[in-house]
Amino acid sequence: SESYLSLKRNDSFKRLSSDDIEYFRTVLSKQELLGSKEEGDLDPFNEDWMQKYRGQASLVLKPKTVEKVSLILNYCNEEKLAVVPQGGNTDLVGGSVPVFDEIVLSLSNLNKVRSFDPVSGIFKCDAGVILETANDYLVQRDHIFPLDLGAKGSCQIGGVVATNAGGQRLLRYGSLHGNVLGLEVVLPDGTILDSMHSLRKDNTGYDLKQLFIGAEGTIGVVTGVSILTPPKPRAVNVSFLAVKSYEDVQKVFVKAKGELAEILSAFEFMDAKSIELTRDHLKKDDITFPLEDEYPFYILLETSGSNKEHDDAKLEKFLETAMESELVIDGTMAQDETELKNLWHWREMIPESAQCNGGVYKYDVSLPLKDLYSLVEATNARLESEGLIGDESKPVIAAVGYGHIGDGNLHLNLACREYNKTIEKCLEPFIYQFVQSKHGSISAEHGLGFQKKNYIQYTKNEVEINMMKDIKKHYDPYGILNPYKYI
Ligand code: FAD
Ligand code: MLT
Ligand code: ZN
Repeated sequence: SESYLSLKRNDSFKRLSSDDIEYFRTVLSKQELLGSKEEGDLDPFNEDWMQKYRGQASLVLKPKTVEKVSLILNYCNEEKLAVVPQGGNTDLVGGSVPVFDEIVLSLSNLNKVRSFDPVSGIFKCDAGVILETANDYLVQRDHIFPLDLGAKGSCQIGGVVATNAGGQRLLRYGSLHGNVLGLEVVLPDGTILDSMHSLRKDNTGYDLKQLFIGAEGTIGVVTGVSILTPPKPRAVNVSFLAVKSYEDVQKVFVKAKGELAEILSAFEFMDAKSIELTRDHLKKDDITFPLEDEYPFYILLETSGSNKEHDDAKLEKFLETAMESELVIDGTMAQDETELKNLWHWREMIPESAQCNGGVYKYDVSLPLKDLYSLVEATNARLESEGLIGDESKPVIAAVGYGHIGDGNLHLNLACREYNKTIEKCLEPFIYQFVQSKHGSISAEHGLGFQKKNYIQYTKNEVEINMMKDIKKHYDPYGILNPYKYI
């Protein structure tokens, strides 16, 4: 695609030969090696979820054991063959697909639960276990995975660790940097780093696992994860609220933190346009919108606790006073599990609704809460002044804002009729400059991948970038792991 035109293949990487394939066949069974027999076979591995980035891998390796991952990487390192680790391929920054002809190393065959301890809540699994499968396994044992996100049906535990995904439960359970207790990682030269600990506390030197959490597959391939999981809450409530301004979104958040305190488990916001896009997209499924009117902003608020009566009373009181003071102008509360899922559906379907019209430009940023929505306003104003938005003849359909308000994380999405360099140039580096001026981060939770490879300096300083480069050079001297990405 267009994004690659300015980039040249790094010719220090070997081109795949028949000898290499012969070697991989000695290590892997038929089910673990996928070459492109038919045109299109490898498309799902070459193309990302947004259909924005497309590579040209002609080989996908799907090893079933850690030892095989080690043999593959050792061989690729010796032969200077470039490799892209791939989980569920739900990455939103072009990090999970090859840029040129890199070999795809898919973790999907490494998919066993290893152990679960019901006393400590420590869960251990292979990297290729799907997030929803892990959560279902835990729910049956009265626990939950400490992370939840819209891509749960496809994304893998290794993938969420590699991106340090945030999602909807971070507000309550914290980030993977706190919950992950240990990792098993294969380094670029094939060394297996076995650090699958079950310890909540361990102050013996550098906390090495942290290096791989959020490294986006640039210095090692995660093959196993040990993680602390919380008990399944006995009472969960979800309400979907409407407010008249972004100012009021913040006021409701402060009120919720104060009054719902220990039971508040999610606080998500959506602007009118993101819901408009979702209503259009969900029309085909005939799902009714939970509120009768349209409003400038919506909030999805979730509580999770251990005593239904107590939680209901707290939430009802909170809603009553919020409505009396006209802070909340409309709202509904789920009465059963189906309604609860439906309310979450309206939030979780925004990404798909923004993507489905031809293309989407996504900006996942951290900003101080007071400034967070002003980025959506500034972007809309810029698009208008450049004549890129407004009616059906314009390439941008809508610039919408939603996200994890509780974590100071805005998702600014531009639903477009097509991917188009003019739109990209209008937005980049404009958005990154805006974020830098507010001392925010150009990637709150999706990572840098390919999309933001040239923009890291808007958030990290020279010393930080040089330390990252040193680490990369040390563990991956030939740069074979996930090349052309942010580091
Ligand atoms: P992939 O997409 O396959 O890979 C992601 C990155 O990690 C790539 O750089 C890849 O090379 C690397 N990688 C993958 N597996 C490994 C491994 N085992 N070892 C080393 N490197 C590896 N993100 C959020 O943070 N919060 C959200 O709320 C959220 N919601 C989403 C909703 C939707 C509908 C979609 C499509 C995506 C969403 N995401 C969200 C993006 C998010 O990054 C991914 O869903 C998830 O973290 C990626 O997991 P994956 O298994 O698909 O990894
Ligand atoms: C979300 O919160 O919905 C995700 O991070 C995905 C996205 O923004 O597209
Ligand atoms: Zn998100």
